[in-house]
Amino acid sequence: MAGPYSVAAICGSLRSASWNRRLMDAAIARAPAALSIREVPIGDLPLFNEDLERDPWPHAVLAAGASVRAADAVLIATPEYNASVPGPLKNALDWLSRRTSAGPAPLNGKPVAIIGATPGLMGTARAQAQLRQALQNLALPVLPGPNVFVTQAATRFDDQGALADEMTARMLDTLLERFVDWIERSVRQGSR
Ligand SMILES: Cc1cc2nc3c(=O)[nH]c(=O)nc-3n(C[C@H](O)[C@H](O)[C@H](O)COP(=O)(O)O)c2cc1C
Repeated sequence: MAGPYSVAAICGSLRSASWNRRLMDAAIARAPAALSIREVPIGDLPLFNEDLERDPWPHAVLAAGASVRAADAVLIATPEYNASVPGPLKNALDWLSRRTSAGPAPLNGKPVAIIGATPGLMGTARAQAQLRQALQNLALPVLPGPNVFVTQAATRFDDQGALADEMTARMLDTLLERFVDWIERSVRQGSR
């Protein structure tokens, strides 16, 4: 097996006690040896505005763009807001889908995996479906499965915020293992 592959992790929630950040942190902690996952913060990105796409480019756009461009792949942990993708995440993806003064669009060709958590019962399935559609529109290879739809999030983590639910941990492990193969496939096919 090749690798290790670097993975830029994006959390769609800016909330300090975010279930999605906990889920992303669990993915970071459980990553197989072939993956090195690091968060790329999106909270400082300005609201997307084409008027800002010129010198001097916003520092946060260049910084996030450089981190994603340097990574082999992207992992997204998304909340669901109003049956859709939360604004901060959509904002980040819009920025990262654009070329900057520093180079081509950071998301170009990146294999992507999606996970999500909600206190509700639908596991962010609707947000993930919409996210998948937007990413496929960018011609990005999005890992087809397994779906990590974490429902009733408050029951899945312990008081320290660590993932404590065996079934969720198994799903996450399976997704991460398949993500390694997915990234390798993309590298072999030269989409990266
Ligand atoms: C404006 C708003 C809309 C929401 N809509 C949904 C929804 O459609 N589906 C859902 O499962 N949860 C919904 N929620 C609840 C979120 O899943 C919950 O706030 C979750 O904790 C957000 O993710 P985080 O913990 O990572 O910040 C909504 C919350 C807010 C604030």
